[in-house]
Amino acid sequence: MTSQDQPGATAPMTIAVIGATGFVGNSVVSHLARAGHRVVALSRDGGRRAGWPDSVETRAADVASGAGLSEGLQGADAAVHLVAIPRQTKDESFAAVNVRGTQRAVESARGAGVRRFVHLSALGVIDDPKLDFLYSKWLGEQIVRDSDLEWVVLRPSLLFGPGDGFFSLVRTTLKWWSPGIVAIPGDGSARFQPLAVDDLAVAVERSLVDADRAGSVYELGGPEYWTYRQIVDEVMKVTGMRRFRLGMPIPLISALTSVTDRVLPIFPVSHDQIQSLQRPNSTELDAFVRAFGIEPRPFDVSYLGR
Ligand SMILES: NC(=O)c1ccc[n+]([C@@H]2O[C@H](COP(=O)([O-])OP(=O)(O)OC[C@H]3O[C@@H](n4cnc5c(N)ncnc54)[C@H](OP(=O)(O)O)[C@@H]3O)[C@@H](O)[C@H]2O)c1
Repeated sequence: MTSQDQPGATAPMTIAVIGATGFVGNSVVSHLARAGHRVVALSRDGGRRAGWPDSVETRAADVASGAGLSEGLQGADAAVHLVAIPRQTKDESFAAVNVRGTQRAVESARGAGVRRFVHLSALGVIDDPKLDFLYSKWLGEQIVRDSDLEWVVLRPSLLFGPGDGFFSLVRTTLKWWSPGIVAIPGDGSARFQPLAVDDLAVAVERSLVDADRAGSVYELGGPEYWTYRQIVDEVMKVTGMRRFRLGMPIPLISALTSVTDRVLPIFPVSHDQIQSLQRPNSTELDAFVRAFGIEPRPFDVSYLGR
């Protein structure tokens, strides 16, 4: 069975999506609404994405300050928490958004009487403060797992689909930062297991509604492994951009990014992101089908060329 012909026979619930207007949130909101659930979409400005049905209610809530969060979750049976930042800025830290923001989301959900709480974590999370992002995701996960909510944690690999973060950034890097030559960290063998965001949305819904999934942690990836070098080749293929690949030793790129982090914050990759390449970003190839009974779609970023 594929995700497209998956049956959706479950009682409708009221589900709050925290971080609804982002890349993952957009797909999750659409999928939950199509499956017949009442959806409350939370983001900082209470915005709405084109394509959402009118039945989707929007509310403003900020996990970093807590403003609007308790009110935003009122009346929800379940919540899915999608807020995290992949890079720190002078205004937003991992501690404030990824860790304390998760704490606020959990406390507000408990206060509002939400029972099921699905948390988006990431492959490679680790209890190691040297890897800032993955450590912040680890701490966020622990807050959820230590709570008395009916929690489910999903740890996906990189997610692809129109509007994605990672693969669009590879295209941007090729287009604007790689005149003739594109730098590849190390030998480019860092391995990923890209998963379609619409398949993840199916996993989110099953995690929200299936009673027996409470207390589960799922590592999720697509049906194939892709190295960073292969991903760059694929993005070049679908966009028609041709660049010479130049392997750059990790210590050299680390030294460069420790400078660009301070003086050139728009540089496409942060020092922390380079360090996190040492962590695995893949799991077993059949992890998704074993957990959710559907075959995830193969990697396809042809939308980057349109
Ligand atoms: N994308 C991937 O490849 C990937 C892979 C593995 C795991 N994940 C995880 O999946 C989750 C969603 O990622 P994404 O790619 O969808 O991120 P995204 O596109 O950046 O979306 C983040 C969402 O959070 C909202 N938000 C940001 N700061 C907020 C705050 N302080 N309070 C309330 N809402 C806030 C944003 O809306 P406003 O800015 O409008 O408020 C937006 O709706 C994250 O936990 C991420 O770590 C993503």
